[in-house]
Amino acid sequence: MSDQAGIIARDLVQVYSSGRKLWGKSDAFRAVDRVSLSIAPGETLGIVGESGSGKSTLGRMIAGIEAPSSGLVTFWGEHYAPAGSAEWRRQRRHVQVVFQNPAAVVDPRWSIHAQVREALTTHERLAASEADDRAQAMLAMVGLGAMGKRLPHQLSGGQLQRAVIARALVINPRLVVCDEAVSALDVSVQAQIINLLLELRQKLDLSLMFISHDLSVVRHISHRVGVMHAGRLLEIGDSASLFDNPQNDYTRRLLAAIPADSPRQRRERDMRAFGGAAQPTNPQLSVPS
Ligand SMILES: Nc1ncnc2c1ncn2[C@@H]1O[C@H](COP(=O)(O)OP(=O)(O)OP(=O)(O)O)[C@@H](O)[C@H]1O
Ligand SMILES: [Mg+2]
Repeated sequence: MSDQAGIIARDLVQVYSSGRKLWGKSDAFRAVDRVSLSIAPGETLGIVGESGSGKSTLGRMIAGIEAPSSGLVTFWGEHYAPAGSAEWRRQRRHVQVVFQNPAAVVDPRWSIHAQVREALTTHERLAASEADDRAQAMLAMVGLGAMGKRLPHQLSGGQLQRAVIARALVINPRLVVCDEAVSALDVSVQAQIINLLLELRQKLDLSLMFISHDLSVVRHISHRVGVMHAGRLLEIGDSASLFDNPQNDYTRRLLAAIPADSPRQRRERDMRAFGGAAQPTNPQLSVPS
């Protein structure tokens, strides 16, 4: 790979269509519309936005598991090869995706140690004992050092998500796209997994794309944050300034739905968001901070 480090996406567009035509017109629409962004090595980019705004579609294109209709992703100076090709499989070891539901992506018949080990030996030729040791060390890193022999159904949801993260990280990827990776977990388990990701990011110099509905989590974990709306990237910037001083009206309204730490902070934020007229926050959208 070249020395052009990190991910650069330019003008990504994804057009979907159901294939049906309405009155002779195609129903094609842009799920992602001309999005450009970059992620540096070791950087976490958070992506927020309402349901259907194109976050997952953008994540799949950044990860190279779905080709854009137009636009280009440069990954450490390379373009992704056509999906399924030998070159594309080689590139897979550098980018991993962690989704919301760990049970859907593990093999129920294999111990978690065996699954972490298998991820490793798919990409590297290793002596059996070295593969065992590296799988075990990775499980220990995610706090499952004593549970390697267990089958997926013998773990809690949070433990299973840790195992999936271990499997994603054991091959030392450069980028991990986390798509609602903690959304299904209890708040206390969410915090553990987020702290684990923060720790591993530092240890392994990972780039993270962290897609979530949960604005307080995104704020906590991200260096920069991008706001998606109807396929467009409305705003992207440094996490602290975006949350404290959003430039876009939509972002302001989205942020106004997060409960603040204190009534005073909430009042101040609502004043900013609504230009003086304080509004009640929406309990449907509230998130623990
Ligand atoms: N494979 C597909 N074929 C057709 N339409 C799709 C496909 N994948 C996504 N879409 C549509 O594209 C739009 C964006 O979907 P996407 O899953 O990227 O949104 P999202 O922001 O991740 O939403 P959520 O927060 O609910 O996960 C939606 O209207 C969705 O229905
Ligand atoms: Mg999604």
